[in-house]
Amino acid sequence: MKDKILLKEFIRDKKVGAAFSTSKYAIKKMLGIIDFDKANILLEYGPGKGVITTHLLERMHKDAVLFVFETNEIFIKELLNIKDERLVIINEDAEYARTILKNRYKINTVDYVISTIPFTFLDRRKRKRVITKTYNLLNENGKFITCQYSGLIYQLIKQNFYQTRVIAALINIPPVIIFTGIK
Ligand SMILES: C[S@@+](CC[C@H](N)C(=O)[O-])C[C@H]1O[C@@H](n2cnc3c(N)ncnc32)[C@H](O)[C@@H]1O
Repeated sequence: MKDKILLKEFIRDKKVGAAFSTSKYAIKKMLGIIDFDKANILLEYGPGKGVITTHLLERMHKDAVLFVFETNEIFIKELLNIKDERLVIINEDAEYARTILKNRYKINTVDYVISTIPFTFLDRRKRKRVITKTYNLLNENGKFITCQYSGLIYQLIKQNFYQTRVIAALINIPPVIIFTGIK
């Protein structure tokens, strides 16, 4: 039932970029990169209706906090059904995460950024801004983890981050690549 919303929004909103939610298999691979004992402040770009968000909350320790940045208002309504005090839902573009966290929450750095925003649908300059700002927002050894359908973002992550890792998650429709940039 809920996937109908994703399909509808995929057709209506070009920023959505996928007609299917990320599979449990790909989510497990992404979350396997996170050391939840040390993850105090997490950030998610493009949570959609919250398929990764709920798994993150399940694994996060009780004092951790998760900020999610989502542009689509239909998905924001879905996210508001998740009742968890550690979740902060922000209806803004991920590009402004650093400024918003700093000005509104007095947060200068985060431990992890998990992203499923479709970088292929962003113009080149915006892609660059998102990656640079994300790098600046992460603390030392912080990780940027992104699940993508194409390798387009690889060079940009490689240019900006100290280390880059790549994992293929083939049991997903369509198959995805998980890129990790380590600061
Ligand atoms: C491919 S969907 C992923 C949804 C869900 N996280 C999943 O893994 O199935 C991409 C999501 O990113 C959101 N999005 C796209 N560009 C964004 C941006 N610049 N800032 C925040 N959210 C964005 C879309 O509205 C959509 O919910």
